[in-house]
Amino acid sequence: MAYETLLVETHGAVTLIRLNRPQALNALNSQVQKDLVAAFAAYDADSTQRCLVLTGSEKAFAAGADIKEMQPLSFADMYGQNFFAGYEQVTATRKPWIAAVAGFALGGGCELAMMADYIIAADTAKFGQPEVKLGVLPGMGGSQRLTRAVGKAKAMQMCLTGRFMDAAEAESAGLVAQVVPAAGLLDEALKQAQAIADMAPLAAIANKEAVNAAFETTLSTGVHFERRLFNALCSTADKVEGMAAFSEKRKGVWRGA
Ligand code: CAA
Repeated sequence: MAYETLLVETHGAVTLIRLNRPQALNALNSQVQKDLVAAFAAYDADSTQRCLVLTGSEKAFAAGADIKEMQPLSFADMYGQNFFAGYEQVTATRKPWIAAVAGFALGGGCELAMMADYIIAADTAKFGQPEVKLGVLPGMGGSQRLTRAVGKAKAMQMCLTGRFMDAAEAESAGLVAQVVPAAGLLDEALKQAQAIADMAPLAAIANKEAVNAAFETTLSTGVHFERRLFNALCSTADKVEGMAAFSEKRKGVWRGA
């Protein structure tokens, strides 16, 4: 399927989505939101696809929500349309996905990257929540996800001053999983996505659910949830196969069952 603002390709079991509004540094307008909702839903529904990489351009992952589109919109417009609601569908994606970030990831761009299961950053990446400079605040989860990722001190400083965080600081602060040279970003992201795609698919979903539960619940409830998932996976054919493959010193062949 073709999208107005995205380029989508598949590499075996890995879907690659590139944000494609170069004239606006991939600013996230309503069409991008609509296209992302559709593309992520298509990925989640396609049993041949097991991991996804979302990326932007060399200069910008995305420079934020589209300021020119939002400029004339009032409270009633935003609230009435629930303007950013589509992103809740993106975060509801069950299968794993990685954000590969080079250049600017600002405002909604930083927020979109933080919706990923994890971020791999190029050494050129710059993260920021500069909405305060526009007289507003993050609107796609930045004040919450950034705080959970880097802690209150840095999140508060970034939201109040609008300063950018470079890739090295983002890695040491825990915002990104890994920093790589810009030229190798996509290859590295696709390689890791392929490795995830090679895992048992139900186990991948369960691992993602369990880690995400840590952000929504208490420790004891989270551990209980994890244990239930563990026990449940013991009734899958892929668990039987995975443990047999280990004993027989061979690679598992997964059925997703
Ligand atoms: N919305 C709309 N257009 C944008 C944009 C955005 N967020 N960011 C960049 N653009 C456009 C510019 O207007 C410019 O278009 P024209 O050539 O038509 O003027 C084009 O992209 C190139 O941008 P610049 O000329 O500004 O490029 P630069 O290299 O000089 O600067 C930048 C790059 C520092 C990223 C600068 O573009 C910038 O500050 N962008 C805005 C960043 C921002 O404030 N993001 C937050 C948006 S609000 C938000 O995201 C709300 C939310 O939480 C959901």
